[in-house]
Amino acid sequence: MYMRNAWYVAAWSREVTDSVVGVKLLDQKIALYRTATGALKALENRCAHRHVPLTLGRVVGDNIQCGYHGLQFNGEGACVHVPAQDRIPERARVRAYPAAERYGWVWLWMGRPEAADPALIPDFHRLSDPAFASTGATNEVAANYELITDNLMDLSHVGFVHGSTIGNAAMGENGKIRVERTDDGVRVTRWVIDCPPPPTYVRSGIFKADDRIDRWQIIDFTPPCFVNIYVGGAPTGTGAPEGRRVGGLGLWIMNAMTPESAARTRYFWAVGRDFAVDNPNVTKLVHADIAAAFAQDKDVLEEQQASIETLTNPPSVDIVADAGGIQARRMLKGLIEREAAPG
Ligand code: FES
Ligand SMILES: [Fe+2]
Repeated sequence: MYMRNAWYVAAWSREVTDSVVGVKLLDQKIALYRTATGALKALENRCAHRHVPLTLGRVVGDNIQCGYHGLQFNGEGACVHVPAQDRIPERARVRAYPAAERYGWVWLWMGRPEAADPALIPDFHRLSDPAFASTGATNEVAANYELITDNLMDLSHVGFVHGSTIGNAAMGENGKIRVERTDDGVRVTRWVIDCPPPPTYVRSGIFKADDRIDRWQIIDFTPPCFVNIYVGGAPTGTGAPEGRRVGGLGLWIMNAMTPESAARTRYFWAVGRDFAVDNPNVTKLVHADIAAAFAQDKDVLEEQQASIETLTNPPSVDIVADAGGIQARRMLKGLIEREAAPG
């Protein structure tokens, strides 16, 4: 089940250069390419003639030329050339998807084209704002995208899954959470007061292993599949919970989980920071630690998906820590139902 009238991340801008790139979103195969002026276009990845994927073709000027019999389609999906034939059959067209580029990501609108408004692209400005140092990658995860949302909305797992990177036991056993609806989503706030810093914070050089810190996790879900996480720590007792966050560090973890299908997700993630912005070694360290943490999540999520698939609708049990994920699911479900409602 998907929300269609929404923007989804399809690729990093840097991945689409001068050849045709295939992606899959919401069970639909799509070909991305750039016109001669660099404008990004997205077409259904299936030639209108005999259904050969357009990713087997090549870019010719502003068009894609199919690799089989050479029909050419423009960025709006209309056939504009048939070899050795003047008349272009009227039905020779493929679906075109509204596309936009923002923050270094390629965004596709998967719903009614006339409803595609770039103002609806969620805010990930720290990805491209020079005041922040950002780095990221893509994970292919063999799990449903909402399992990843659950994972990010309930960071109590950090203490158990990520003990070697961003977590420690204090995070699992001590956190107090608050869940609230925001204008356009769900926010989970979690504080752990007077705890040791996790390994990543120590490696960053900001804290020593025997320091005591106040740690925060502020997690914002925006439907259908976006989670912005602001995590950090400051020396305990210096007023971080009241808003005075100095002498510590903060990281913004940006997550866009694009469903390829019900059981596969192309998970775009990035981490930004506002300290040591010019230090590439810190970028490397932060990237490596977050990548390691997300590899740990991927292992758990894929096992979870496989386990869920062994039974139809297996019963599960909710605990207090699930509150944010449950709210996020409820909100998305409501939006999907509203789209499906007649009129
Ligand atoms: S299948 Fe594409 S031109 Fe024939
Ligand atoms: Fe995790």
